[in-house]
Amino acid sequence: MRILSGVQPSGKLHLGNYFGAMKQHIEAQEGHECYIFIANYHALTTIQDPDRLRACTLDVALDYLALGLDPKKACFFRHSDVPEVTELAWILSTVTGKGLMERAVAYKDKVAKGLPASMGLFSYPILQAADILIYRSDAVPVGQDQAQHVEMTADIAGYFNNTYKCNVFVIPRVKLNEAAVVPGLDGEKMSKSYGNTIDIFDDPKQARKRIMSIKTDSTPVEAPKHPSRCNVFALLRLFAGATETAEWAQRYRQSGMGYGEAKNRVAELFEERFSAARERRRQLVNDPGYVEDVLADGGRRARAVAQAVMEDVRKACGIVVAGK
Ligand code: TRP
Repeated sequence: MRILSGVQPSGKLHLGNYFGAMKQHIEAQEGHECYIFIANYHALTTIQDPDRLRACTLDVALDYLALGLDPKKACFFRHSDVPEVTELAWILSTVTGKGLMERAVAYKDKVAKGLPASMGLFSYPILQAADILIYRSDAVPVGQDQAQHVEMTADIAGYFNNTYKCNVFVIPRVKLNEAAVVPGLDGEKMSKSYGNTIDIFDDPKQARKRIMSIKTDSTPVEAPKHPSRCNVFALLRLFAGATETAEWAQRYRQSGMGYGEAKNRVAELFEERFSAARERRRQLVNDPGYVEDVLADGGRRARAVAQAVMEDVRKACGIVVAGK
């Protein structure tokens, strides 16, 4: 089974990115053929500052490698090292109705938030479909917010196969990530644009301070509490194993536990989970040659697969390229 997912470079990594996507991407390297890429072409829809785009692209690479993505197990690469995806996006756009794009919820949300409605933003799902289809991916691990794009990809694959009476594309399916929504400090979805994040590679003291400031209700220590309504508990359960989570749920329901205790435990678990990665990231920052080699090598491997699929695509639709 071939698994593929992409991440947009967007700045500092936070717990929402980690539990919402990245953790599953890294886990997918065990026992599957796994492709993970940095979607820098997609990022042009939001980042139009070349230095910033370069820096953010590198940051994602450092984050993934520090957190355990193993380039020997997974193929890890930059979008732009496989320029064939943009060719495929064009071809797919000729078999896709405009009405399908108009139903994209992510597009509407982004425009409502004030992003300019560029053609790139509008046809973003077609480029995403090209990403997925060009590797004949079977499954795509994403958060709830991206599920619609993967469903559209399945439709688009079908349009192409039907139009050209062929079986060039595999129809992919969504693999929903376990933590669909990670709450931020204020209980809203954790998101950089809401300013409610807990950043993973911040100074650890800062992370602890942010964790201690998570918003809770004012139920006194003596009174029983509802684990399912508490933001601290929602984070705790992401870090802790099943047994510990059950114990905390029990303690919430009894009297005598203060939210401060639960926050403390989250801060501890945060540190346990990320301190080694922080150290590893520091080393990688000092070894840019290694990081570039990893991406270049991943790009070469991914491109070889993409080029072979593109030959089938061109043949199916009658596009002739000299020498092929
Ligand atoms: N749109 C995805 C996001 O914003 C990133 C992405 C780009 C992606 N191409 C992809 C995800 C292909 C899965 C498969 O999170």
